[in-house]
Amino acid sequence: MLMAPSMFKLAVPAAMPRASVRIVAPFSTSAVARMATPATERPQKMKAFKIYRWDPDYPTKKPHMQTYNIDLNRTGPMVLDALLKIKNEVDPTLSFRRSCREGICGSCAMNIDGVNTLACLCRIDRDKTASNIYPLPHMHIVKDLIPDLTQFYKQYRSIEPYLQPEGPPPGGREYLQSPEERRRLDGLYECILCACCSTSCPSYWWNQDAYLGPAVLMQAFRWMSDSRDAHGDKRREKLENTFSLYRCHTIFNCTRTCPKGLNPAKAIAQIKKDMAFGAPANAADRPLQAP
Ligand code: SF4
Ligand code: SF4
Ligand code: FES
Repeated sequence: MLMAPSMFKLAVPAAMPRASVRIVAPFSTSAVARMATPATERPQKMKAFKIYRWDPDYPTKKPHMQTYNIDLNRTGPMVLDALLKIKNEVDPTLSFRRSCREGICGSCAMNIDGVNTLACLCRIDRDKTASNIYPLPHMHIVKDLIPDLTQFYKQYRSIEPYLQPEGPPPGGREYLQSPEERRRLDGLYECILCACCSTSCPSYWWNQDAYLGPAVLMQAFRWMSDSRDAHGDKRREKLENTFSLYRCHTIFNCTRTCPKGLNPAKAIAQIKKDMAFGAPANAADRPLQAP
């Protein structure tokens, strides 16, 4: 039988005593040869990133756009990669939020070329020679690309975003759901509260102090749709006023922009329908939210 050639050769000079056998590793394997091949340098592909800058330490200096030219062949494929490259290698004063870099935490929400989205899920457009990056629109700015989300979180708190069951679970252990009841939460629970939708909503721009906005309303609907929650009526009652819910005019900007592919406008329409015609007694009787 043919044996695979050994990587190692025993170099035993004829006159050498057995104790001094040396093991010599030859540098001729394919892996080593590949490592030795010099990487071919890819040609430069420059792109300008025009980024909104404002620093609270210099309050008299107006916000402005700063341009950074980046070689796309020396950065990752996403806009967040380019921002990190700028921050790490060009300008450490550039400020933006990020954490997970995979569309889970919602921190890197910003406006890229006119669209509210997540920088970590947004591919760099290699065909355009320049991109404009702004913070989420119509928000107070903490610094550069960082919006102040205090009001957004205050509104989120106001809908009491946690399970409020009637009493202790049957059997004293856990609140059970049928697979059908659980499916009613699909398309709702995946929201990462990035605020892309709320900050793309004209009604939210003009009435941010009173209108809850699509992200928060969709979360209100998420708890109204939960078969284990017993306070749907109380949750709906809180929205029974001119501003909290009814400022939505079904323009659908929110749904168009959601980077997670969710449909807050549909959830809002469903709350309005429930308030007009009465909510189904059982969550399993609701239409599915997810497409
Ligand atoms: S619905 Fe979409 S855009 Fe709105 S906060 Fe949730 S994930 Fe973000
Ligand atoms: S559908 Fe309603 S919540 Fe969505 S953008 Fe339009 S007005 Fe805002
Ligand atoms: S870094 Fe977490 S969503 Fe982009």
